[in-house]
Amino acid sequence: MRRKLIAGNWKMNGSFASNEALLSELRAGLSAGAACDVLVCAPSPYLMQCANLLSGSDIGWGAQDVSVHLSGAYTGEVSAPMLSDCSCTYAIVGHSERRAYHGETDELVAQKTLRLLASGLKPIVCVGETLEQRELGQTNSVVSAQLRAVLDVIDVDALTNLVVAYEPVWAIGTGKTATPQMAQDVHAVLRQQLALKNPPVAEKVQILYGGSMKPENAQELLAMPDIDGGLIGGAALKAADFLAIIQAA
Ligand code: PGA
Repeated sequence: MRRKLIAGNWKMNGSFASNEALLSELRAGLSAGAACDVLVCAPSPYLMQCANLLSGSDIGWGAQDVSVHLSGAYTGEVSAPMLSDCSCTYAIVGHSERRAYHGETDELVAQKTLRLLASGLKPIVCVGETLEQRELGQTNSVVSAQLRAVLDVIDVDALTNLVVAYEPVWAIGTGKTATPQMAQDVHAVLRQQLALKNPPVAEKVQILYGGSMKPENAQELLAMPDIDGGLIGGAALKAADFLAIIQAA
C-alpha cells in the first residue's frame, strides 16, 4: 500500500497574516497526527515562515517552482540549493500554469527536475492535457510525452524520489473534476510508463491527482487504486477544506 500525499499548492496567494492563521489551524487540526503525508507549497517569500511555523509538526513545506540554473546572474530566479536552505522537502515543477504562461517546455521541466534531485529535494512533476487535447483523444500521448522527457534524463535510482501529479488543465480552478475513472485511467498509463523504467519502484511512486479536488469529491478520487493523493489549489487555502481532504485520505 502506498502512503498518500496531500499537497497544497497555494499559487500566488497569501500574506504573513493569512498564512499564519491558515498554518495554525492546520497544525491544530493535525495535532493528533495524519494518516497521510501533508505538504504545503508556498510562494518563495513565505518558505521561511512555513519553516518557522511548521518545524516539529507533521506538515512539510515546499516550493512551486525552481530555477533551471544553479547560481549566478539570473535575476529573479530561485535555485534548488536555496530551496534546500529553506528546508523544503519538495518542489512542484511543470505546473500547467508555468507551461502556459511562462513557456516551459517538457525539456525545461526535465532539467528542473534534475536540479531538484541533485539538491536532495523531491520533485512533484505535473503533467496534464488541455480540453482540446482530450477531445482529440490525445490525453495519453500528451501526458506520456511530458513524463517521458523527465524519465529520459533521470537515473533509475532517482525514481524513488519522484512524485507525479496528473492535472488535467481543464479541471484546474474550474470546478470541473475528472471522474474518478477518467483520472484512474490516466494514472494507470503513467504507472505503466514508470514501470518501463523501474518496475518495482514504479509501484511505490506516488501519483497525485489535481484539478478541483475538494472535500466533496476527494474520497471517491482517493479510493482509486492508482490515485495516491492530491495536489490541491483553491481548497488548500481554506483550513477546513484542506483538513477534510486530508481526512478523506
Ligand atoms: P485547483 O488547482 O485545485 O484550484 O483546481 C490545482 C492545481 O493547480 O494544482
